[in-house]
Parts: sequence; C-alpha cells; structure tokens
Amino acid sequence: MSAQPIIQAPPDPGRLPMTLPLLREKKRLGEPIVMVTAYDYPSARAAEAAGVDLVLVGDSAATTMLGFSATTPVELDEMLVLARAVRRGLHTPLLIGDLPFGSYEVSDEQAITTAMRMVKEAGCEAVKLEGGGEASVRRARAIIGAGIPVMGHVGLTPQTSTALGGWKAQGRTARAAARIAAEALALQEAGCFAIVFEAIPAAVTEELMPSVEVPVIGIGAGPATDGQVLVFHDLLGIRDGLGPRFVKRYANIQQEMNEGVTAFAEDVRLRRYPGAEHAYSIDPAELADLRTLLS
Ligand code: KIV
Repeated sequence: MSAQPIIQAPPDPGRLPMTLPLLREKKRLGEPIVMVTAYDYPSARAAEAAGVDLVLVGDSAATTMLGFSATTPVELDEMLVLARAVRRGLHTPLLIGDLPFGSYEVSDEQAITTAMRMVKEAGCEAVKLEGGGEASVRRARAIIGAGIPVMGHVGLTPQTSTALGGWKAQGRTARAAARIAAEALALQEAGCFAIVFEAIPAAVTEELMPSVEVPVIGIGAGPATDGQVLVFHDLLGIRDGLGPRFVKRYANIQQEMNEGVTAFAEDVRLRRYPGAEHAYSIDPAELADLRTLLS
C-alpha cells in the first residue's frame, strides 16, 4: 500500500463541502445535482472551480486517459494514481472512486478491500460499482456494511457491455426496463446513497423515478433524473469524434491542443522560438570569464 500522504486542496471559504445529507436535501428540494468525471489535478481543479456537487474518478479513464477502447483493462493501481491526483485538486465536491472491472466481483472481501484502498490511499469519500444483479447488490451491501458509501450504476454498464449486447441503450423493451427498475430498487434497498442511470430511454426513466428514493444521476437517461453526469473529456471535446448521442459538447479542447502543439512545432522549426524574452541573462563580466576558462 502507498505511504504517500493524501494532500487536499485548500478549502474554498465560500462553499460547504458536499455531504450525503446535503445530497439528499438537494433531491428533496428538487435542486439539480451536477456530477462530472475527473482523472487528474487539472480536471479536478476545473470541477472545483465550476462548483460541481459530485466528482467521479470514472473507470472511463481507461478510454479517456489511457487510450484503451473499453473500460475493462484499467487496473486498480492505475485508478488509485488518478484518484490521488484528483484528491489533491478538490475540496468541495464529494469524491467518488469507481471500482474497476475485476476489483470487486470475486467476493465480498475483495470488494471491501478494494473500496478501502480507494478511501485510505486516495481519499475517496465513496465508491461506485456497476450492475444491479444479485452479485453486485451483495457487494454493495458488503461495502456499505464496512462503512463506505456506495453509488450504484444501472442501464448501460460499460464493464459488462459485451454481455449486454454492445455499447447501446438499455431498457428499450418493457421486460428490460422492468429489470432495470428491479435492479435500481435492489441497490437502493442495499443502502446505496445514489444510483447512476446510463443510456436508458427518457420515458422509462420518467416511469421509474417516482419509486426511487435516493438521488438518481443520469447520463443519457433524459431530463427526469435528480442530476446529470458527463465524462469530462466528452463535454470538453478532448477526444476524436463526437461520442455518444447524449453528449453535449461545451468546448473543443482536443482541437485547441492540436493547434497549440502545431504552432509550437512550427515556431521551433522556423526558429521563431525561443525569443529573447524567453532567455536567461548572465553578467557580461561572468561571460568574459567563462570565455577565458573555456579557451
Ligand atoms: O466511468 C465513468 O465515467 C462512469 C460515468 C459515465 C458515470 O461510470
């Protein structure tokens, strides 16, 4: 286990840190809950500056940060490195660590050990796991029993997307939608403090919302949820292509990065960089002495 200290960003005097009671209160008052993913110090600072409520160190890091085409390959140790960097950049939002594929399914002990590492080594305040089947619900209950809050995740669960028939919307038949409802209620009954609904028809979400008492955060699940989450790289355009249908793009940072690095490369090749303003000076007498020393 890492002996590195967990360093947190200094508090913003104007804002209260998000807590589970505050989150429940937001749902009660009908105030939209804002969640975003973050994977490093700069993305955490952006989330903090924007005053979001929840930050998820998502296993989407596998695709956004590590260049894999699926979320399954990311390792727990890699998630911990990213989560620690996010922790250093955050003070106010509640920090949730995603449990990567293979780090919680084997047994309750494995799930508790993994969740504890997220808390102890990275400073996460809660964890998220995917799925609302019997095994996932059991793991959620075990982790909650060990004192760590758990966020559930139903609908499209990317870790098991192959078994779900691909990366596509879920709950598009009455039977499939009823299964999602049962999974959400089972996660709620197990004690999850919130549940992500991913890629579910908006009308299905609307039908399910009245029976879910905990905050529901949607991604591609329509406007009826208590809050919305987007992947940092999707909303800022740090990716090739547009991404899933539900993404709204607020910036085009990948293009800005490409243009910036291209401009730098051109400046170097044309000897426009560095200019005099980028150079350090030396006392002329010292320079003269140096020439003597070198001759
Ligand atoms: O890993 C992730 O980014 C997620 C969000 C899409 C909820 O699970």
